[in-house]
Amino acid sequence: MLNLGFIRSSACRFSPSIINHSPSPSCFCFSPKQTISFAVRSQMGSFTTLSQSSSRLLFRQLFEKESSTYTYLLADSFHPDKPALLIDPVDKTVDRDLSLVRELGLKLIYAINTHVHADHVTGTGLIKGKVPGVKSVISKASGSRADVFVEPGDKISFGDLFLEVRATPGHTVGCVTYVTGDGPDQPQPRMAFTGDTLLIRGCGRTDFQGGSSEQLYKSVHSQIFTLPKETLLYPAHDYKGFTVTTVGEEMQYNPRLTKNEETFRSIMQNLNLPYPKMIDVAVPANMVCGLQDLESKAN
Ligand SMILES: [Fe+2]
Repeated sequence: MLNLGFIRSSACRFSPSIINHSPSPSCFCFSPKQTISFAVRSQMGSFTTLSQSSSRLLFRQLFEKESSTYTYLLADSFHPDKPALLIDPVDKTVDRDLSLVRELGLKLIYAINTHVHADHVTGTGLIKGKVPGVKSVISKASGSRADVFVEPGDKISFGDLFLEVRATPGHTVGCVTYVTGDGPDQPQPRMAFTGDTLLIRGCGRTDFQGGSSEQLYKSVHSQIFTLPKETLLYPAHDYKGFTVTTVGEEMQYNPRLTKNEETFRSIMQNLNLPYPKMIDVAVPANMVCGLQDLESKAN
């Protein structure tokens, strides 16, 4: 696996006085097909759906009840530093998540978002303030601020494990799905963190934030349904108590994505959903890593 250099992004303007983490440049941007490999120097409220019986992957699925959001903790438990990452952390549960990270003796290196959320404020900014050295990660296409911008084909390494980045726009223009690596030393079956692109027996709405039902349909069919059928799918939300599904299950039972594209478009155009109550707070905050208040005070 190649480790490629960082390129400073002019689009990223975090003030060092707001985000005080490592002495290295605060913002990075990756070219396509790059591998992000961070050199590591040196249970509460959670439930586990560990799918691998004897894996080096430590995996926890955590829940935030107000927005019904899942946060995922992944770590390489065989690596001496136990490097870890959090996917879609929520501001309200940051202390719980970091307490678990500490308790398990993990070294948190990345706080990652699947997209700019409209229903809750991300915890990535708070995490960076509490754990020096953690880097926030989001897709370049999101237009949001972060330390690391990823593009399709990039790999995010933590120890000897990695996540592959797949572009899955449609719910928002910058949505990505993170998929565990493909290889003998990577978790089997593979696991995909789909954000709001594909939910269990559903999908994210497509009527705001650059959403497009055509794009979402194409994203799911070309980037998620092409994974092996046993691939475990972990969404950003569930409102019925489900925790996990598989590619094969959704290809057979998803009431929207099993339809043809025209029917799918018609379904999405007639959902008649209410205006999201958190969107006017969450989106502006999430465009700046969840730290809008601090950002405006500094300017
Ligand atoms: Fe969303």
